[in-house]
This record gives sequence, structure tokens and C-alpha cells, in this order.
Amino acid sequence: MAEHLVIAIDGPAASGKSSVAKALAQRLSFLYVNTGSMYRAVTWLAVSRGVPADDAARVLALLDENEVRFGVTDDESSIHLNGVDPSPYLLDERVNANVSTVATIQEVRQRLVALQRAYLEEHDLVMEGRDIGSAVFPGTPYKFYIDASPEVRAMRRQKQGVQDSISARDKQDSGRRASPLIIAEDAHVIDSSHLTIDGVVGEIIGRLKLKGFPFLQNGPVANPQVHRTI
Ligand code: CDP
Repeated sequence: MAEHLVIAIDGPAASGKSSVAKALAQRLSFLYVNTGSMYRAVTWLAVSRGVPADDAARVLALLDENEVRFGVTDDESSIHLNGVDPSPYLLDERVNANVSTVATIQEVRQRLVALQRAYLEEHDLVMEGRDIGSAVFPGTPYKFYIDASPEVRAMRRQKQGVQDSISARDKQDSGRRASPLIIAEDAHVIDSSHLTIDGVVGEIIGRLKLKGFPFLQNGPVANPQVHRTI
């Protein structure tokens, strides 16, 4: 069977990468995987149980004691915590404030990265995060880093009506030891400050063409109901 393809989209908070990755995945009929949601789900589990985000041993114990499942629903990655979809809580202020601390825990990263890689066994992927091109799929030739000025990013988050200190998160994400946010050497950088989502997607498609990307006539994303548990 032909190997699956992965397009890596990385970038700092509120750079527009989620909207871009989603639109691109739809255009290509690839599975859209939001890895930030995975770190957010683990963080929600911790804050909702009163476990401090920097207590690595207790956070890991939570992963063993609870059922954390990643799967596919429609054409996106999905998450269930003890059978419940935590999406409504993932942009909670407490999650924003603690997610970058949880994301520094090496063993949390290892477990999540293994599950992120497993998606490629069954799907062509557009995967977004902080370390997709640098650590999760360093071998993919299709890497993009979406940036925007700090002012534009702060404004975008504000417009979403979400309380989120993105500069603090950026600092923590870029400064951590385990897979920090970096621009992979072979990534194509796009400044989205003055571009629409369609504009960024257009630039990515143009770049993919230059790189000889095989534009496949994929059908809709298959939904085999495979769920993997941490
Ligand atoms: O939407 P936004 O860009 O603000 O954040 P996100 O993609 O939902 O990611 C939330 C947090 O998860 C980030 O600030 C990182 O601390 C962490 N993260 C990570 O460490 N590695 C990833 N691949 C994705 C997210």
C-alpha cells in the first residue's frame, strides 16, 4: 500500500494555523489533526481534577487512571476523556494558563507524539502544532511555519473573546527543553499578518506544487472508527 502523506503546519499561538490547516485539509480531503487540542485535553483533565500542571508524576498518573482516547470523527481528529468529548472546555482560561506547562512534561509529549504518528498509518494528514515539522514528522518534505506579528496575534485571540496570555505561552513554548517551538530548517515560513485564510492556503498550495506534491484525488476522509488510548 502507498505510504501516506503528511503536511506539517507549525507556528506560535493565534498565528492562524488552525484555520489554515483545516481549510487546507478540506481542500485536499486529508485528515485534519489538531495536536494542540491533545495537549489541551490532558491539561483540562489536570485542572478539572485539581492536579497542578507542573506535577509531572500526578499528571502522568491521571493518564493511567482515566481513559483518554484519540480517534477520528467526520474528517477531523477527535478526543474522548472517559467517553466525553472535552471540546467545550479546551479554550477555558485555566487551560490556556496551564497548557504550556503540561506540554513541558517529556513523558506526556512522548505519549502524545506516538498517537500523533499513529494517525499516519491510516490517513493522509494535515497536522498542526508546535513541533510537527521538527520532531513528530521531521522526514516530511512538506513543512510550513505560519507566523504573524505579536499585535495581530493578540488581536485575533481577543476577537475570539478568549482570555489568553499568548506572549507568556510563546515564551514558554519556545524556551522549553523538550521539542521547543522552532522553525524547522526546511520549513517554508509564511507571515499571515496581512493575509486572509484563503491567501495563506493559496500560498501553501503554490509551494506544494513547486515541491512536486502529488495532488491526489482523495475521496472523503475514511472514518474507520479506530480509537487509540493513551
Ligand atoms: O491555538 P493556539 O495556537 O493558541 O494553541 P494550540 O495549538 O491549541 O496549543 C496549545 C499549547 O499546546 C501550546 O501553547 C503548546 O504549549 C502546546 N503544544 C505543544 O507543545 N506541541 C504541539 N504540537 C501542540 C501544542
